[in-house]
Amino acid sequence: MEKEKFTDEYVASLTIPEHVAVIMDGNGRWAQAKGEPRTYGHIVGSDVVEDMVEIASNLGIKYFTVYAFSTENWKRSEGEVSVLFSLFSEHLKKLQVKSAENNVRCIIIGDKSRLDDDLNKTIDELETSSKNNTGMTFVIAINYGGRDEITRSVKKIASEVQSGKISPDEITEDMISDHLDTGGLPDPDLLIRTGGEQRISNFLLWQCAYSEFYYCDTCWPDFDRNELIKAIEKFNKRDRRFGGVK
Ligand code: FPP
Repeated sequence: MEKEKFTDEYVASLTIPEHVAVIMDGNGRWAQAKGEPRTYGHIVGSDVVEDMVEIASNLGIKYFTVYAFSTENWKRSEGEVSVLFSLFSEHLKKLQVKSAENNVRCIIIGDKSRLDDDLNKTIDELETSSKNNTGMTFVIAINYGGRDEITRSVKKIASEVQSGKISPDEITEDMISDHLDTGGLPDPDLLIRTGGEQRISNFLLWQCAYSEFYYCDTCWPDFDRNELIKAIEKFNKRDRRFGGVK
């Protein structure tokens, strides 16, 4: 592991974003550059996710969200999808122990109706066992797409209008936020994308309206505490105006 570059004193001087979201990109390319199959990148990347739970929580991040599988990722080969889902199953089970040790609450977002019963059971167990933990909230997006989430939210609101519970005039931005999978969670302050690409790829489209974006060339399997602090350091230099003037 790379030597810690940042002193505790320096880290303590930084403003820690409340909610950090990450597009964990570059697993496949990282593995291929080492002459390994793409799935090796996902295996190492999953271990990095586990490490990050502890690292983010120790830095004082209150909400940490990772994009594990998008609604578009089903287009990958059957073999790659299958490895990814066995990794989710394995690591979500391990997270039950890790979340208890670190007082972390875990939430899974995305359309869970397409996930198999075993994985849904593992998700239920993890969410239930960690729901009263009062430390960091760790959000994992599986079969998640921002457009899909907004569409599902609109359908829920439309049926409330249809049943006469609310009128169209009563629909507000807050109501839409509350009907998303992330209802009740604050919007991300900082969105990190690893792996050198600079796009949002259907992640948290509604929620990232005012997030600060940070891109780095480091591929996800090489991402570590130093890389996370570098992103937070850049976030500290940004001037957030939320459309206003200072
Ligand atoms: C993008 O890299 C990564 C993914 C589509 C999968 C991310 C999933 C993990 C890191 C495992 C997460 C595990 C848990 C427990 C949540 P890519 O394969 O698209 O990289 P490439 O751009 O190099 O092809």
